[in-house]
Amino acid sequence: MVDQTFISEMKQLGALTDQDRQLLAEMKPALEKQATPIVEAFYVQLESFEPLKQLLHAEPGRVERLKGHLARWLVGLSAGVYEEDYLQERYRIGKRHVEVGLEPRYVIAAMAFCRGFASRQIVEAEYPADPQKEARMIALNRIMDLDLNIMLQSYDDHRLKQFLEVTGFSEALFETLMAGG
Ligand code: HEM
Repeated sequence: MVDQTFISEMKQLGALTDQDRQLLAEMKPALEKQATPIVEAFYVQLESFEPLKQLLHAEPGRVERLKGHLARWLVGLSAGVYEEDYLQERYRIGKRHVEVGLEPRYVIAAMAFCRGFASRQIVEAEYPADPQKEARMIALNRIMDLDLNIMLQSYDDHRLKQFLEVTGFSEALFETLMAGG
């Protein structure tokens, strides 16, 4: 659940420094420039997995819609401000993936794919001789880790909610069973 405790813990866990925030904000033009090729390659990769291909084409126009969502997400990594609104949005993205029935392992693999692209097409291609090249990659990794962490927490929360609704269990009973009591 996104409450103040969750938000402040996520901010601590994300461990973004002022330098990370500044470098990320500075990289916005590079992210905007590279968004289209990255997004195109991202969906080519997803379509090579049959179950994902089916999900992507389950509704007419979905892939095109998703390309827009992913490009906005990518450029959004350079927001520079990573406070409540940002965290809430990432949590909502996680929930959307639970709703469409996507297993979380695909999100983890997709994030790894985005990291590879960020390294090659953003840091290496756009800042080849920059003394802060490594710091830029670290900042991108930190923000992608934070995003992934929030999305996975959202998976956990929403899947538990679905389980409680289906079984009629209370959360307290579930916790007791999990604790072996
Ligand atoms: C780094 C990993 C990923 C990111 C950042 C991401 C990002 C997003 C975003 C921003 C949305 C829109 C949420 C909304 O506004 O409601 C979305 C929806 C969706 N994503 Fe992902 N996604 C990721 C991985 C995947 C993967 C691996 C698949 C596999 C097919 C996938 C399939 C979908 C589907 C089917 C929707 C709903 C689209 C719709 O009904 O309009 N996503 N994703």
